Amino acid sequence: MVGIRAPKRLDLEGKTCVITGATSGIGQVAAVRLAAMGARLVLIARDQARGEATLRRLRARASGAAHRIHYANLMLIADVKRVAADIAAAERRIDILVNNAGAIFSSRRLTAEGLERTFALNHMAYFVLSHGLREPLLAAAPARVVNTASAAHQSAKLDFGDLQFARSYNGVSAYQRSKLCNILFTRELSRRWAGTGITVNCLHPGFVASRFGKESGGLLALFLRGAQLFAISPDEGAETIVYLASSLEVADISGGYFFKCRASAPASQAEDDSAARRLWQESAKLAGIE
Ligand SMILES: NC(=O)c1ccc[n+]([C@@H]2O[C@H](COP(=O)([O-])OP(=O)(O)OC[C@H]3O[C@@H](n4cnc5c(N)ncnc54)[C@H](OP(=O)(O)O)[C@@H]3O)[C@@H](O)[C@H]2O)c1
Repeated sequence: MVGIRAPKRLDLEGKTCVITGATSGIGQVAAVRLAAMGARLVLIARDQARGEATLRRLRARASGAAHRIHYANLMLIADVKRVAADIAAAERRIDILVNNAGAIFSSRRLTAEGLERTFALNHMAYFVLSHGLREPLLAAAPARVVNTASAAHQSAKLDFGDLQFARSYNGVSAYQRSKLCNILFTRELSRRWAGTGITVNCLHPGFVASRFGKESGGLLALFLRGAQLFAISPDEGAETIVYLASSLEVADISGGYFFKCRASAPASQAEDDSAARRLWQESAKLAGIE
């Protein structure tokens, strides 16, 4: 624990939590903590060895629950839709969805579907997965969606004329923009799902020493490795995910941005609700979702 007050928690016995990016870093710590609190975890992972290793950790902490794993490359919309449909068919109720998988890339490359990788993984996967799990979340309401964003959004700008940096790419700018998208998406989803009993909040975990940046390539990977010497641990970074997933204090809060388990004001461009609506429309078009 890191000097953060202990909040009153939901009873997670019998609750189901779907989480992405739980094979490493803050997602893995959050998954283990939620399992230790009684939740049954449904992981979405891309790597079988890391997936199985995480499942073993969950079972070691909470052997009773039937934790599950599904595999998907979250950079691909078709794969996100497929895994969401598989999970929605298997899970009648989902109490908590944690959209957390993310990365940074020093060079601009497109996925097989033609999307820039950072935008596809860090933003579109959150959008498509939340949409695909709407029914089981509704069935479990009160339910929660928790999106891992970042303070990196503070220097970001949206450009709807060049959302995916086709003109001039910079890995840091693409990452910052994707994290701005996380906050705008959180606000718009919260607005659209108001009255359903599903709350939607996002967070900045702090600067965390994890595997983040290891795959980014170029000088960025070296820079991040050095900078992480001064970063907080994944244990500390996971605090606000666990808080938003389980604290009774936020049961009725939706559309918020949190840091260190407290509501925090994001940068002004993250509070632009017309940009949030436009981003939703552009994302829906790209995903082929109404
Ligand atoms: N680290 C920081 O300082 C920091 C600060 C602010 C926000 N964040 C955010 O926190 C979140 C988690 O980051 P972290 O620091 O815990 O990083 P991490 O240790 O690199 O973990 C990233 C997770 O995302 C998964 N992932 C990456 N690409 C994927 C793909 N194509 N399909 C499926 N899963 C994929 C990884 O799976 P594998 O195990 O297979 O690689 C891993 O489980 C990200 O959204 C990041 O933007 C991090």
